[in-house]
Amino acid sequence: MDKTNKTHFGFKNVDKDQKTRLVKNIFSNVATKYDLMNDLMSASVHRIWKNEMVKHIDFCVQGKKAKNLSYDFNIIDLAGGTGDIAFRIAKKAQLENISSTINVVDINQEMLEVGKERNLNCKNYSNIKFICQDGENLKFEDNYFDYFTIAFGIRNFTNIDKALSEAKRVLKPGGKFICLEFSKINDYFLQKIYNFYSFKIIPKIGEIVLNDRDSYQYLVESIRKFPDQETFAQMITDCGFKGVSFKNLTFGTVAIHIGEK
Ligand SMILES: C[S@@+](CC[C@H](N)C(=O)[O-])C[C@H]1O[C@@H](n2cnc3c(N)ncnc32)[C@H](O)[C@@H]1O
Repeated sequence: MDKTNKTHFGFKNVDKDQKTRLVKNIFSNVATKYDLMNDLMSASVHRIWKNEMVKHIDFCVQGKKAKNLSYDFNIIDLAGGTGDIAFRIAKKAQLENISSTINVVDINQEMLEVGKERNLNCKNYSNIKFICQDGENLKFEDNYFDYFTIAFGIRNFTNIDKALSEAKRVLKPGGKFICLEFSKINDYFLQKIYNFYSFKIIPKIGEIVLNDRDSYQYLVESIRKFPDQETFAQMITDCGFKGVSFKNLTFGTVAIHIGEK
């Protein structure tokens, strides 16, 4: 599909230049209830997945633990939305007495505004910045970040290869790419149950809570269109990352992919 000017938006085919706008609209529609919906849809399990992802940030410089080194870690959380990953990284850094700057970058200003409010009202981290940018055309210089995280974001991109090559460009040599994304369940019966839940229940929850069935229909369709664990790992490798590996969580409902520049 990449060679034409068409791409998928859920199960629909749309022009590539339409998709980014359609995705933007989805997240504008859901921004104010995004966090609540995540808890409702996953019975709060998304919190466990996100905690697991952040464990892969080890705060090492050239293989050495950075504790007591005067080093400020520069981190980008792309498609960072309402800040869930950034808050976890900031907390971890604080607990480990590590200096860091965390850049929450997202194409949708409404999602970022919710994140800013959360930070102001209950988190109060002074080292988190909220920046509106398209992840396929980042405005940061080359070799700028120590860590590049992205959670539940990359499947929404129009050109995933472009986003991966931007990730590689802005990471420092030795910097780590860590991606949490929905993936393929590795059990036939669980897959059947998951399909029922995804297509029958999730859009219904969207309808009841947000009066918006379509956004959540897109969500479940976009999950099905995303490549499986091995294919995505190969895409990361093809982009030039080294030592690419992945870890399944909850029978492959989601996977964490890791690569090094
Ligand atoms: C499902 S949310 C994930 C938010 C957050 N990372 C989390 O895990 O809760 C997906 C986010 O990707 C963002 N996004 C989609 N396309 C993007 C792009 N091209 N550049 C940057 N962000 C994008 C959306 O605006 C949205 O905030």
